[in-house]
Amino acid sequence: MTAFPDIADHTVARSLELYQQAGELIPGWTQLISRRADQFAHGASPIYAQRAKGSRFIDVDENEYIDWVSAVGAIILGHADDVVNAAVKDQIDSGSLFSVNSPLEVELAAELNATIPSSQMVRYAKGGGEACALAARIARGVTGRDMILFCGYHGWHDWYQAANFGVDPESGDYPFAGIEPIGVPRALAGTVMPFLYGDLEMLAALLAEHAGEIAAIMMEPARSELPRPGYLEGVKRLAAEHDVILIFDEVSCGWRLAVGGVQEAVGVTPDMTVVAKAMSNGYPMGAVVGSREVMEPAKRMFISSSYWSDNIGLAASLTTIRELKRRNAPQRFKEIGEKLRRVLNQAIADAGLEGACTGLHTNPAVSLATPDGIDPRKVSTLFIQEMARRGVHTYMSFKATLAHTDEDIRLTGEAAAESLQVIQAGLRRGNLDALLIADLKKEPFRRLVG
Ligand SMILES: Cc1ncc(COP(=O)(O)O)c(C=O)c1O
Repeated sequence: MTAFPDIADHTVARSLELYQQAGELIPGWTQLISRRADQFAHGASPIYAQRAKGSRFIDVDENEYIDWVSAVGAIILGHADDVVNAAVKDQIDSGSLFSVNSPLEVELAAELNATIPSSQMVRYAKGGGEACALAARIARGVTGRDMILFCGYHGWHDWYQAANFGVDPESGDYPFAGIEPIGVPRALAGTVMPFLYGDLEMLAALLAEHAGEIAAIMMEPARSELPRPGYLEGVKRLAAEHDVILIFDEVSCGWRLAVGGVQEAVGVTPDMTVVAKAMSNGYPMGAVVGSREVMEPAKRMFISSSYWSDNIGLAASLTTIRELKRRNAPQRFKEIGEKLRRVLNQAIADAGLEGACTGLHTNPAVSLATPDGIDPRKVSTLFIQEMARRGVHTYMSFKATLAHTDEDIRLTGEAAAESLQVIQAGLRRGNLDALLIADLKKEPFRRLVG
């Protein structure tokens, strides 16, 4: 793609047709809430893709997009990376799953130990939520306690979704807004509680109130901003004082800031860490790693599944981690993030809008001020809609891969400048509704981590 497609020609008719069929065949339409059409500009955003390579994908209507969603962070080197794919293809020819164990299992464990500061022993899984459930099992098993304090999103499993039972349904304060704990056993109510990121007093009070009952603190150590100095150290100190296992969920924040994760970047080492998503660049893989002390007792626990150590995930993961190191990933992510922030801030300024692109360079996000009385979702939906029509697939936040080029950034800046001018004109004339060809975007579930 060198220039924008003709906006008048942009259609996602085939995507919409498939989505309609999916509604009849697949409850909830998609396997991942973040991939539902209502998370984007439904009616203008692509919903189904047919091919992806590098920083781009082609949807089923033959439109090409620069992809800033990157499979919700799971693609880190770029789509269909040649090096990872070569390793995977070799592995397929040698057998994707053996009756006995693969030496790759031992090799990847050693690689994780050499990469992630908290890693001395390793257990594998496939998805991030699954790996979080496994970490919760180990922490409960090691401590003999049931309660878990959390801060962030940790997947779909019962142990975590039970947090919604702690909230008055009328209050609208669900940690996972719009998602009710239907089907989650009520017996789990009170076994898991949220705490607010950055609030050490709240955490200390919860630990004191439930002294002797808490197995673990599970948290995303960072998301769109780095923690303020001393915060994670404070969490670690409190965990140690209460003999509670500290678990960092690095499923989303891991790998980009430093290959060893946020913990490497900020120098705070938890007892256990959960990783998944980007660790294998688009092939399913997840892991729980931790100190020998907390991980070794897992050998007596029922933790077992046939596909957890399939050779494809292991080969993809080993290759991805080595390529991240070889390609000097953290430095390149810094360059991409900073350049992207610069062009997006320029576009906001040029359009004369109030707002900014801020946040950590691994996850820059655009926020726009909306005048009183204007539903902010109209502005965010219009932004995503207009970007899609110009061949850029994004949320309000941007997740890069190493395949994103300076040209991708330049084109994204141009698309943003035009899209923001459309918004500016709509606000000025008071006709945002007339400009929207898409349904209003739904707010994603809240994560409690900024
Ligand atoms: C921090 C964090 N933990 C866990 C998960 C769940 O991972 P998965 O979707 O692979 O089950 C996610 C997914 O977005 C996540 O961001």
